[in-house]
Amino acid sequence: MPAAGHVPVLRDAFVEALCHRPDGRYVDATFGRGGHARALLARLGAAGRLLALDRDPEAVAEGRRLVAEDGRFSIRHAPFGELDAVLADEGWNEVDGVGFDLGVSSPQLDEAGRGFSFGREGPLDMRMDPTRGPSLADRLARVDERTLARVLRDHGDERYAARIARAILRARREGRMKTTRDLENACFHAVPPHARYGRTHPATRTFQALRIWVNDEMGQLEAGLNAAMDHLAPGGRLVVISFHSGEDRRVRDLIEARVHPCTCPPEFPVCVCGRTPSMRWLQKKPLRPSEAECAANPRARTARMRVAERLA
Ligand SMILES: C[S@@+](CC[C@H](N)C(=O)[O-])C[C@H]1O[C@@H](n2cnc3c(N)ncnc32)[C@H](O)[C@@H]1O
Repeated sequence: MPAAGHVPVLRDAFVEALCHRPDGRYVDATFGRGGHARALLARLGAAGRLLALDRDPEAVAEGRRLVAEDGRFSIRHAPFGELDAVLADEGWNEVDGVGFDLGVSSPQLDEAGRGFSFGREGPLDMRMDPTRGPSLADRLARVDERTLARVLRDHGDERYAARIARAILRARREGRMKTTRDLENACFHAVPPHARYGRTHPATRTFQALRIWVNDEMGQLEAGLNAAMDHLAPGGRLVVISFHSGEDRRVRDLIEARVHPCTCPPEFPVCVCGRTPSMRWLQKKPLRPSEAECAANPRARTARMRVAERLA
């Protein structure tokens, strides 16, 4: 049975890649409902330790129940962009593995009140941590049209970004932008008629882009992955599951910068920049879920997993 409504994606591959020492110290940077964490604890020995993070208070509440069941487990309510400070606070200078299962959990998407989904009317919120930072409504109240169009293009690859941004801000000025249904309607009417009834709903990319913007997901990713790689012990593993191509590209580039850090021109016979590799790829070509997993769990369809190891 999935842990409280979230089916963990690529669970066995994730645990297999991450856990190379059963008595090691591990971090699950995205606890969610604990599907990966529980599978990892099942692999760890009595001396193994798992520290989890999540920025969502509801995920952390679920994690506290697991703390009561298993003395090897602990959880912190923090964004993984603050991983460096969390590890310092725990006195964990080196860890044997850090796993990230990015994006939102099924309970977050399914609960209309969080404002993540179209098709379910809810407030314009979209914060993974509703106790911190501006909501989507707060941001839309201040943003200008050019910035909004850039957000839709950069984080959603939305080809009708300019038209949708204009429609959202017009609706806001006219007092017609209060709920996720209003946002969905604005997207639907902004795109040309032939684009309204395709395979994906015309609001899909806008909702994704706005969620990434509200939660500063790209800033979080950069800070979180860099902190993870800084704290890996030799042989320690970094495992990352991402769910859209922009995110996966960023993961690849952040790891690649440590696999091939040398900046010398290719015609130089020897390296003079002095930057030496600190990571190596274990899974460079992303691992995808099987057809059977995607059929059983449609949210797995876009998942890609990359794995790298800290060099000595
Ligand atoms: C896909 S779910 C993880 C599911 C989890 N692996 C499981 O098996 O139940 C992603 C989780 O990561 C959390 N999350 C996303 N970005 C985060 C960040 N920057 N810092 C901490 N948690 C984050 C979300 O709140 C959500 O609970």
